[in-house]
Amino acid sequence: MIVIGSDHGGFTLKEALKKHLTARGLEFVDVGTYSEASCDYPDIAAALCAKILSGECDKGLLLCGTGIGISMAANRHKGIRAACVSDYFSAKYTRLHNDANVLCMGGRVVGEGLACELADVFLDTEFEGGRHQRRVDKLDTL
Ligand code: RB5
Repeated sequence: MIVIGSDHGGFTLKEALKKHLTARGLEFVDVGTYSEASCDYPDIAAALCAKILSGECDKGLLLCGTGIGISMAANRHKGIRAACVSDYFSAKYTRLHNDANVLCMGGRVVGEGLACELADVFLDTEFEGGRHQRRVDKLDTL
């Protein structure tokens, strides 16, 4: 199960991504925000991370204006590996090498078409494991 969330800066992109996920037949939970009214991205990040850390969801898509603030907030939660990306290579390799479980993007940075492609490669790429597992494990000891 996928979980998706955004602040007001990522709201429009969140709605576009929801349509894309639905078209792909993928199920998701939306933790808000539910309008363009101003809200605080740490609150949305916390709601999304809770869904992953409880095991209800396994991957998350998080949006804010830049993708940066909400990725900073998500990475404060132990067990969350959030990557803020705006290019295809990074979206792919953060799965292959970092086992990222949250993809962050900026609604004021990436267009809807690119965001859908980035979400697709993130959701469809498996972690390589091997030597990368040791490195990922060290993240939780920091
Ligand atoms: C909200 O205006 C904006 O600061 C927020 O969406 C995000 O870009 C923060 O990193």
